[in-house]
Amino acid sequence: MTDTHTTPDTHTAPGGGATEPVAFPRDRACPYHPPAAYDPLRAARPLARITLFDGRPAWLVTGHAAARRLLADQRLSTDRTRDGFPATSARLAAVRDRRTALLGVDDPEHRTQRRMVLPEFTLKRATALRPRIQGIVDERLDAMIAQGPPAELVTDFALPVPSMVICALLGVPYADHDFFEEQSRRLLRGPRPADTQDARDRLEAYLGELIDRKSGTPGEGLLDDLVRQQLSEGAVDREQLVALAVILLVAGHETTANMISLGTYTLLSNPRRLAELREDPALLPGAVEELMRVLSIADGLLRLATEDIEVDGQNIRAGDGVVFSTSVINRDETVYPDPDALDWHRPARHHVAFGFGIHQCLGQNLARAELEIALRTLFERLPSLRLAAPAEEIPFKPGDTIQGMLELPVAW
Ligand code: HEM
Repeated sequence: MTDTHTTPDTHTAPGGGATEPVAFPRDRACPYHPPAAYDPLRAARPLARITLFDGRPAWLVTGHAAARRLLADQRLSTDRTRDGFPATSARLAAVRDRRTALLGVDDPEHRTQRRMVLPEFTLKRATALRPRIQGIVDERLDAMIAQGPPAELVTDFALPVPSMVICALLGVPYADHDFFEEQSRRLLRGPRPADTQDARDRLEAYLGELIDRKSGTPGEGLLDDLVRQQLSEGAVDREQLVALAVILLVAGHETTANMISLGTYTLLSNPRRLAELREDPALLPGAVEELMRVLSIADGLLRLATEDIEVDGQNIRAGDGVVFSTSVINRDETVYPDPDALDWHRPARHHVAFGFGIHQCLGQNLARAELEIALRTLFERLPSLRLAAPAEEIPFKPGDTIQGMLELPVAW
C-alpha cells in the first residue's frame, strides 16, 4: 500500500504499514473500550501508521509480542527533550523542554534514578502497606456513607484514597491536596499548553520548598529518606530530587484514581461480571489484572527511535516517533481470545497496561494493592451501589490524557 500521507514535517515518514494513517489519539465513545476509529489499527498488527495532533506521522505499535520486544529495546528513547520526540497533544509538546525524572531518562542515568526509589515500591513494601491502605479506604467510606447517598465517587473516594496513600509514602502533607491535585489535573489535562507549563512550575516550586524544609529537619517518608541519603551525600542535586518528587506525586495518585473510578463504572455497567466477583471474592486479584487490561487507561506510550529498527519486515527509521497503544496491544486476539470481553478467569497478567521493560510502572505493586482493597471494600460495604445517573450521561476524560471518569455520581 502506498503512503498517501502528506505533511510539512521533514522527518522520515513511516512507510510500509498495512493501513492508511489514522489520527491518534481519539476520544473513546464508551470509557472502557477503544474508539471504533481504532478498528483499522486493531486489524494491522504488529505496526500501523498514525498521524499525531500536529500532522506528524508516527508508528503505532499494535501487536503484543512486538510491543514487549520494542518496550525493552534501548534503541527507543524516552528522553522527551530530544529533537523530534513525538507528542500526542499540544499539552505534552509544551513540557518537552525539561527532562522528566525516571520516565524521561534513558539508561544508564535511568538505572541510577530507579535504584534510589525501588526499595520503597517492591511487592514486600506494598504488602506491608496494605493495613494502612485499608485504614484510609475505611475512613473515606465512613465519611462518604455518613454524608450520603448520593455521592460523587471521584471526589469522595477514587481521588482521595491514592492521594492519601502517596502522601503518606512520600512524606507530603495531605493538607496540601487541593493544591497538588489541581496542579496535576492542569498538568495532565489543562485547556492550554501554557496551563501545563504553569502547573509543572507550581508543582516544582511547591516540592522544592518542601524538600528545603526537609533538608533542615527530615521526617518520615521517601522524600525525607532521599534528602538524608542521596541529597546530603551529593548523589543527586536539588533539581533532580524535585523532578523525581513531581513524577512520584503525580503518577502516584492520578493514575490509580482513574482506575478506581473507571473500574467502578465498568463493574456497575456489567452487573453479571460484578455478581461473579461478589460470589467468589477470590477472583478479585485476577479481576484487577483483567480490568487493567481492558481499561488500558495510559493509552499512548511515547518513544523516539534513535537507530533503524526492523520489526517483522517493516523498518522503523532513526528519528521516527513510536507510540504504543496499550488498549490495542492488550486486545491482541492471538494472546487474548475474545479480547473485548471481561473474563475474570483468563490469564491477563502479561498485559502492557503498566508498560514493559526498564520503564515498567514503578508503582504497579502499590497500585494493585490499592485497587484490590478499594474495589473489594467499596462493593462489600455498599452492596446496593448503583450509578445515580444514566450511564451514557456520565462524563469521562478525553482520549489525549489518562482515561478515567470526570465525575461518578452514585447512590446505594
Ligand atoms: C493503576 C494505576 C497506574 C497505571 C495504569 C500506571 C501506568 C504506568 C505506565 C503505562 C507506565 C510506563 C510508561 C511508559 O513506559 O511510557 C508507568 C510508569 C511509571 N509509573 Fe505508573 N501507573 C499506575 C500507578 C502508579 C503509581 C501508584 C505510582 C507511584 C509512584 C506510579 C509511578 C510510576 C513511575 C515513577 C513511572 C516511571 C517509571 C520509570 O520510568 O522507570 N504509577 N506507569
